[in-house]
Amino acid sequence: MAPLKWVVAGLSLISETFAVRLLASHFSGTIYTLDLNFASDTSATLSVTSKATGCGVTPTWLYLDSSTRIVYCMDESWAGSGVVTQYTLGANTTSTFTQTGQAKTPGNSVYGQPYGGPDGKTFLATAEYSPSTITTYKLPITSSTKPIETLEFKIPKPGPRPDRQDKAHPHSAFTDPSGQYMIVPDLGADVIRIFKIDQTTGKLTACPTVASLAGDGPRHGLFQKFGSVYKYYSLNEVSSSVGVYDVVQPSDSTGCLSLTLKQTLSNYGPNVTLGNVTVKSAEIRLVGDYLYASNRNDSSFGFEQDSIAVFKVGTGNLTFVGLSNSHAYYPRSFAFNKEGTYAAIGGQTTANVAILPRDPKTGLLGKPVANLVIPPRGTYGGEDGLSSIIWDE
Ligand SMILES: *[C@@H]1O[C@H](CO)[C@@H](O)[C@H](O)[C@H]1NC(C)=O
Ligand SMILES: *[C@@H]1O[C@H](CO)[C@@H](O)[C@H](O)[C@H]1NC(C)=O
Ligand SMILES: *[C@@H]1O[C@H](CO)[C@@H](O)[C@H](O)[C@H]1NC(C)=O
Ligand SMILES: *[C@@H]1O[C@H](CO)[C@@H](O)[C@H](O)[C@H]1NC(C)=O
Ligand SMILES: *[C@@H]1O[C@H](CO)[C@@H](O)[C@H](O)[C@H]1NC(C)=O
Repeated sequence: MAPLKWVVAGLSLISETFAVRLLASHFSGTIYTLDLNFASDTSATLSVTSKATGCGVTPTWLYLDSSTRIVYCMDESWAGSGVVTQYTLGANTTSTFTQTGQAKTPGNSVYGQPYGGPDGKTFLATAEYSPSTITTYKLPITSSTKPIETLEFKIPKPGPRPDRQDKAHPHSAFTDPSGQYMIVPDLGADVIRIFKIDQTTGKLTACPTVASLAGDGPRHGLFQKFGSVYKYYSLNEVSSSVGVYDVVQPSDSTGCLSLTLKQTLSNYGPNVTLGNVTVKSAEIRLVGDYLYASNRNDSSFGFEQDSIAVFKVGTGNLTFVGLSNSHAYYPRSFAFNKEGTYAAIGGQTTANVAILPRDPKTGLLGKPVANLVIPPRGTYGGEDGLSSIIWDE
């Protein structure tokens, strides 16, 4: 259902526009709240409503806890040190960022989110790309916050894509649906690392790692339930593919969660062999019966117009549907609204946020209903431009 219809169906008499809020981070140092105002189902305006700094020199990743309206921002600083910053977001009608805590980090964090404890958000885990570490912290973040632990990963020799896989590169850290395990896709090592979480201390104990295909370079992933079982979908950045894994529950309390690879699909369909390429997939999302994976630097739709691969999710297996235009160059992040009717695409190099309608029947994404450039643009191949986009609903 499109926003205008909510207004018609709801009690509101304010029929001219309907605003939805988004949050964006920019590698140049600023984070933003944005308002998306719909004039109709096919036309909207997107505008900046507030800005904040405080997430170091290279804000890379935002996590919003909708129930508490706490936002964590990770700093990808390549300078050997960085910060993790905690904000409180004002009410969704007037939201602004208020910084409520900040701690020093080793820098180069590319991802972070809360985990563990009785509420599932007692601790924070972050992944550091080039120090090859994950680091954990107790929440809330204060100026005296120190890591609970830092785990460093090594590989015996570079992977099949030595330009990307020179060393271990953990790229994200998130829990499985039970909240008992931490999942860490490692782009450099071609593995998905799994850890058992001590819910009291936040400490992590390594489980056996799960290998991806050689040269996959797993970056992000997500779980989805089918009946009583879960599948795990792995976004493989280096091979531009999605791996479909069966989730294997431990047989007893001393065991570990495991994953078994069942299927791998190229983000370009079954008839395309990529070889050594310069495209880099980035984000994976699932909504309704469709799975989406963004591809950076493929220019599939022309100059500075990269693609988003669309897959149909059957009973867990995937079928390639086709490519949609992301209307962005380097779509590093994207997210769907709760209704699954619109995608917000974060174009890294073009530094734009494009709002695309989603057809729930075909899964395909349509032409932008709104587009906003948040300068400065990134440079070709640079770690600059717009870094992440999420909805605040
Ligand atoms: C891909 O390129 C790397 C160098 O970056 C090289 O070592 C490797 O052999 C190449 N692989 C293929 C399949 O061409
Ligand atoms: C792949 O190739 C086969 C055989 O030519 C064809 O039947 C199929 O439609 C192609 N699939 C896609 C997604 O293009
Ligand atoms: C899913 O795909 C795998 C590998 O192609 C196949 O072995 C399995 O039977 C498929 N499962 C279903 C439910 O289609
Ligand atoms: C992007 O792709 C082009 C080829 O289309 C390649 O020449 C360039 O090196 C790629 N850029 C990056 C940063 O990978
Ligand atoms: C704002 O939050 C309230 C209370 O949670 C909710 O009812 C309302 O739908 C939200 N509005 C928007 C625009 O997200």
